Amino acid sequence: MQIRVLGSAAGGGFPQWNCNCRNCDGFRKRSLKARARTQSSIAISEDGEHWILCNVSPDIRAQLASFSAMQPNRTLRDTGINAVVLFDSQLDHTTGLLMLREGMPLDIWCTAQVHEDLSTGFPLFNMLRHWNGGPRWNEIKAGPDTFFSIPCAPSLRLTAIPLISNAPPYSPRRHKTHPGDNIGLFIEDTGSGETLFYAPGLGQPDDNILEWMGRAGTLMVDGTVWHDDEMLRCEVGTRTGQEMGHLAQSGPGGMIEVLDGLSARRKILIHINNTNPILNEASPERAVLESHGIEVAYDGMHLDLAGQS
Ligand code: MLT
Ligand code: MN
Ligand code: ZN
Repeated sequence: MQIRVLGSAAGGGFPQWNCNCRNCDGFRKRSLKARARTQSSIAISEDGEHWILCNVSPDIRAQLASFSAMQPNRTLRDTGINAVVLFDSQLDHTTGLLMLREGMPLDIWCTAQVHEDLSTGFPLFNMLRHWNGGPRWNEIKAGPDTFFSIPCAPSLRLTAIPLISNAPPYSPRRHKTHPGDNIGLFIEDTGSGETLFYAPGLGQPDDNILEWMGRAGTLMVDGTVWHDDEMLRCEVGTRTGQEMGHLAQSGPGGMIEVLDGLSARRKILIHINNTNPILNEASPERAVLESHGIEVAYDGMHLDLAGQS
């Protein structure tokens, strides 16, 4: 199984277009050792040729241009994207579908809740119907015995894990979240035995989530904020990480502590908000991560789980 990080930042990207927080300003002034990052999305593949997009960020055009496997050039109109899995209906994970309209119809896998949001509050499915029929919805049912596979990657066994998080502001279920509003994905390559747990939004790992995380050889999980009240500290917002469905890295019960209790070979943070001090490669917070064996995803990061990574 191959995994390509197309984008590693949270909503807004890094630097964020209108933001002058310490990180965004420092990056522009070159006083910060940090990489620019687009909004989070990964692509996975069994064979390196047929790819499944996990979320479609507003930055999809730049992300596709930066990865040659996405432009295989076998026919006049062609792409390496064979299917899309949506983990929630948030703007930073779905807006890119509009940019993929020339490639419709496209197979989309998501829960009934995400499909409802994208047919009502943010009606992407309805709008895109005008482009060659639009997306073809394949329903994901979340739960332990409901694994599924996608035809372009028959050896990959996918299990959707319901996450405790929040539905977006335009969802009919905002603040009354239901299982299925947000999922994580446990992916098992039945050929190589390699496993990945991917959850770019992870508010509160419960026992079920921890059990799945405990089985994964590679973890790629929510790295949004270092402090739960980071947006307030940076004076750029009022919402806490918890309110947005994101578990902070620091402090008791934080993501570092959670990851310390798990035996995965690789522990990687993704969906990094532009306020997070770990973006600064020379920061003490980044050194703390390193001392715990935790990596920070970057755009273009590539993992070949069957061979060298
Ligand atoms: C989130 O992950 O909480 C959302 O993407 C935030 C946003 O983009 O508004
Ligand atoms: Mn997000
Ligand atoms: Zn910023």
